[in-house]
Amino acid sequence: MADYDVVIIGGGPGGYNGAIRAGQLGLKVACVEKSERLGGTCLNVGCIPSKSLLHASELFEMAVKDFAGFGIEVTPSLNLPTMMKQKSDSVGQLTKGIEFLFKKNKVDWIKGAGRLAGQGRVEVTGADGAKTMIEARAVVIASGSRSAPLTGVEVDQRRIVDSTGALELPEVPGSLIVIGAGVIGLELGSVWRRLGAKVTVVEFLDRITPGLDQETAKVLQRALTRQGMSFKLASKVTGATARSDGVDLAVEPVAGGAAQTLNADYVLLAIGRQPYTDDLGLESAGVATDARGYIQTDHFRTNVPGVYAIGDVTHGPMLAHKAEDEAVACIEIIAGRAGHVNYDVIPNVIYTFPEVATVGKTEEELKAAGVDYKVGKFPFTANSRAKVNHEGDGFVKVLADAKTDQVLGVHMIGPAVSEMIGEYCVAMEFSAASEDVARTCHPHPTRSEALRQAAMGVEGWTMQA
Ligand code: FAD
Ligand code: NAI
Repeated sequence: MADYDVVIIGGGPGGYNGAIRAGQLGLKVACVEKSERLGGTCLNVGCIPSKSLLHASELFEMAVKDFAGFGIEVTPSLNLPTMMKQKSDSVGQLTKGIEFLFKKNKVDWIKGAGRLAGQGRVEVTGADGAKTMIEARAVVIASGSRSAPLTGVEVDQRRIVDSTGALELPEVPGSLIVIGAGVIGLELGSVWRRLGAKVTVVEFLDRITPGLDQETAKVLQRALTRQGMSFKLASKVTGATARSDGVDLAVEPVAGGAAQTLNADYVLLAIGRQPYTDDLGLESAGVATDARGYIQTDHFRTNVPGVYAIGDVTHGPMLAHKAEDEAVACIEIIAGRAGHVNYDVIPNVIYTFPEVATVGKTEEELKAAGVDYKVGKFPFTANSRAKVNHEGDGFVKVLADAKTDQVLGVHMIGPAVSEMIGEYCVAMEFSAASEDVARTCHPHPTRSEALRQAAMGVEGWTMQA
């Protein structure tokens, strides 16, 4: 028996950030993780490996298509094993980094699968089947999520893959069909298209990226189509048959009509993710979940005293930074402090080219809520830095309250917007008016000037042509 102030089940961004914060606050803390490596989905099979391949494949495509336009003549060829190895090396280094931080902050990593086993108790089953009981004043569930299945489309990680399989394909597919025009489909579809695959995205709805500001989604779809990605919208997949050298996919229009068989070398299923709560003992512990399996929480507290939940396994966007913020706030509450997450300021990024970065309300949401708002918009074609870099696509759009001028939402599509959205997150966290951004000096020539120009546009005094 070991006694802890806090035991966290899961070592992903929710779990490991929570454990480190607990260590910093002087709490005696253990993190139970059943995988061989810390870091969860994000570090091992999510954010990090996907961004590694997105970066590498973007460099490859630039070398193939764009270098000549800058006067650089090269004949690039792809070494896929090396590209995959540099990805795995980065992942390995980052997961080791968390082990180091655990030691530094006196976090015990208990290797094994955790399960609630009565008031303040967690039973851990190791890889060898040995069981240990640990006791804690507070238990935090951070068990994350997994890919949602689709009836009739069985993922074999060979020809029909989910995101994990799509990060490890042994070859560049001649053709790839992606089911689902969401974040994973567009990011990983972009990776393989850039490396040479013919990519078709089949989407149930009549638009891509549901939830994203409509105008931004349209510009993204146009850009991806220009790059060679095909879209089959308003279509549903009714079944898939994997062969040794490819997949046959049965597809029907959602509105009814003739079914069609599509063929491809590989199929990527990416229709969303669902909370992962297998073998956690939630039922016997009496922890309430909703109809879709998410653990129900109120300020991270479940209905069972002493049991908390954070990250993908609870409601809200399934994002690493949301899990991280919840982890810190949850631990601070457990430590008797005032932990808080501002759900109005959680940015969302799609790492395609152009990138998409948004925070706050969309125009559709503001209209539905009857909010009177003003719009300032600035295109990257008029930004000098984007122009000299040959990367003109996209815009920055700022939505501000018509009366108070408070920034309510920002939607950007363009180069490096993932790195720039943080400026508006800070502004919104401080309840800034668009004029605050408009009157803040920005360095010239940078793409960040487009952020300022869009804010100036709210009052109609945009200056750069
Ligand atoms: P997870 O990271 O899923 O971690 C949960 C951990 O709990 C896992 O390690 C699991 O093994 C462990 N576990 C589960 N049950 C038990 C148990 N009973 N006992 C012990 N351990 C257990 N988000 C972003 O913000 N930016 C991105 O760019 C991004 N890219 C992504 C790309 C892909 C391909 C995918 C799939 C996801 C991406 N995400 C991204 C989402 C991000 O990975 C998740 O939101 C984030 O990992 C959630 O963190 P978490 O701690 O809640 O859960
Ligand atoms: P998603 O929810 O982003 O997109 C799923 C898409 O599949 C939607 O467009 C949906 O309409 C469509 N769909 C659903 N059922 C379908 C069906 N039967 N046939 C065809 N289309 C169907 O989910 P995705 O892309 O799987 O990503 C899961 C989560 O992972 C995201 O919600 C996000 O939170 C996280 N993620 C975040 C990233 C980032 O921050 N850059 C990158 C990758 C993942």
